[in-house]
Amino acid sequence: MSTARSRAATRLGRIPPYFFAEMRARVARLRGEGVDVAGLDVGDPDLPTPPEIVARAVSALHDPRNLRYPSYGGLAELRAAMAGWYRRRFGVELDPDTQVLPLLGSKDGIAHLPLAVVDPGDVVLVPDPGYAVYTSGALMAGGEPHPMRLRPERGFLPDLGAVPDAVAARARLLWLNYPNNPTAAVAPPGFLDAAVAFCAEHGILLAHDAPYSEITFDGYRAPSLLQSPGALEVGIEFHSLSKTYNMTGWRVGMAVGGAEAIALLGQVKSNVDSGIFTVVQRAALAALEEPAEALTARNALLGIDVPRPRATFYLWAPVPGDGDSRAFATRLLEDAAVSVTPGIAFGPGGEGFFRVSLTAPDDRIDEACRRIRALAG
Ligand code: MLT
Repeated sequence: MSTARSRAATRLGRIPPYFFAEMRARVARLRGEGVDVAGLDVGDPDLPTPPEIVARAVSALHDPRNLRYPSYGGLAELRAAMAGWYRRRFGVELDPDTQVLPLLGSKDGIAHLPLAVVDPGDVVLVPDPGYAVYTSGALMAGGEPHPMRLRPERGFLPDLGAVPDAVAARARLLWLNYPNNPTAAVAPPGFLDAAVAFCAEHGILLAHDAPYSEITFDGYRAPSLLQSPGALEVGIEFHSLSKTYNMTGWRVGMAVGGAEAIALLGQVKSNVDSGIFTVVQRAALAALEEPAEALTARNALLGIDVPRPRATFYLWAPVPGDGDSRAFATRLLEDAAVSVTPGIAFGPGGEGFFRVSLTAPDDRIDEACRRIRALAG
């Protein structure tokens, strides 16, 4: 029961509890009771962080200079390494001092960006289904999320032309995310260019969340938003080292893009946190120096048979029967001890689907399939 002192703010009342926080607690409870849960819900790579990265952190820990307050905008070397990675990977030139901002994971930047650019009542265009933080970040800033449905028949791409003019006129921010979570869809050539043109026409900041850009298969190379003509004038892109380098627990990512948007996000962040632990920044430097072949070898391990996505480590599958994704996920967890993510956790547009994260050892994925088959009878 809430007392006057602990009563939730009206703002928080509009934001549901974070799905994965609840799911993790539920799985922990079941494991505490001795249930052997096969966890295929959160996208948390089961492979260890590469040893060179860990070694760099261990050695950095012994230097007391790395244990003091970090700098707000990140180490100059790290910003330069991030810009260098962009040059090598995408052929995009960035000014490390004004167009790159290291983050405490991309979620940090995604949640805080609306505080920098959205006023109460402004519209934020969000993909549905989509990563829940696009919506909760908008709500925390007093914005109005406007869902853009991602439908299978459109390759899970939003129809920007279907956004009503009156809504586009009130929009300050538009979120895209390719390779896509949860659907595993990729953006076809020209799609991001068209999004840049749409945002330029309507004066909207285009935010592209790209944490899965390096998790691709069969020769597919995901593009960066910043490769699109004019993107630096209207866009900001988020990356995470979490999925690319098996570093989910380290909390390090980056925002890159137009200098104004980067400065505004940096202003919010310097008021709410004190930067990334310098030891982690030094480990991130080691990660960004990794040869690209190391990633290719890791992606080969994630290969699966059917249906085979071109990117991400997710499968997005229709829920059998009546399509109630929450009931289906609960049944899988309670009767088969397999945790998956119900599509509804990504918004109403996700209903009728469930997401399987393949970030578990092969034998656990096999075991989960066996249990699901047994349940289906
Ligand atoms: C996911 O599994 O979709 C996300 O990576 C989880 C998260 O960021 O909380």
